[in-house]
Amino acid sequence: MKNLLTMTDLTKDDIMNIITKAQNIKENGVKPFEKGMTVANLFFENSTRTKCSFEMAERKLGLEVIPFETSTSSVQKGESLYDTCKTLESIGVDALVIRHSENAYYDSLEGLNIPVLNGGDGSGQHPTQCLLDLMTIYEEYGYFEGLKILISGDIKNSRVARSNAEALTKLGAEVVFSAPDQWKSDFSNVPYVNIDDVIEEIDVCMLLRVQNERHESGTTFNTEKYHEAYGLTMERYEKLPEQAIVMHPAPVNRGVEIDSSLVESSKSRIFKQMENGVFIRMACIYDVLNHKEEKVKCHL
Ligand code: CP
Repeated sequence: MKNLLTMTDLTKDDIMNIITKAQNIKENGVKPFEKGMTVANLFFENSTRTKCSFEMAERKLGLEVIPFETSTSSVQKGESLYDTCKTLESIGVDALVIRHSENAYYDSLEGLNIPVLNGGDGSGQHPTQCLLDLMTIYEEYGYFEGLKILISGDIKNSRVARSNAEALTKLGAEVVFSAPDQWKSDFSNVPYVNIDDVIEEIDVCMLLRVQNERHESGTTFNTEKYHEAYGLTMERYEKLPEQAIVMHPAPVNRGVEIDSSLVESSKSRIFKQMENGVFIRMACIYDVLNHKEEKVKCHL
């Protein structure tokens, strides 16, 4: 894999290979890369999980992490994303992890000769979040074909919804969305349903964060009404099938997308998703760096 930019670029086999590699790392560990390889994490949007999880993955792989903070970089003097990345390539950085508010920001990086791992682009894609979600589902069920998956919330503004709907459909799962009219989107053929019509038959209940920062300024919504109509209430939780699991990419708006007491309930896999994220990111970094530098000796 040269880069990891979108789930569109990955075949079913690519996805399963990454999940298998991540599971292998989780179970058996990994021999770190030889010294001397460096990465930089460029986060132009806020992050806790993705940024820290990538850094943890990089450190576990024995990579040097070049500190980069957008707030103190020459981006503040107007330097472009391309020139910033080309500078890091020139000083010897081997790979970049980038999160940016602009959809498909990576289209502007064609002249770059080092791999890019997309840590989220606007409302576009979030491939490593998707892969860690897939790993978590696969750990639970061992297959995707025929699984019934509800994704509820701010579909329109969610890169997680885009990546997951695309990948899960590709893998043979049945995906349905639930969302208020203003947050519906026609980016896929996934049908919209009333959450209460499907709650008793789904295998995965995935809640999405309400993306307040992507709403037009002045937009307000009633959090209690939203919770009652689209959130995972205690009443709905009780109706889930025995085997069903609850997921959320986080950060969680407790009491909005999910009743606060359910975040660590027995069906919740929210913190398991975060745990798996480190292994998925190790597998992805390993893959792109190995592609770049075939001589690197790193045996899984
Ligand atoms: N799930 C996720 O992307 O979280 P962060 O925004 O904290 O990285």
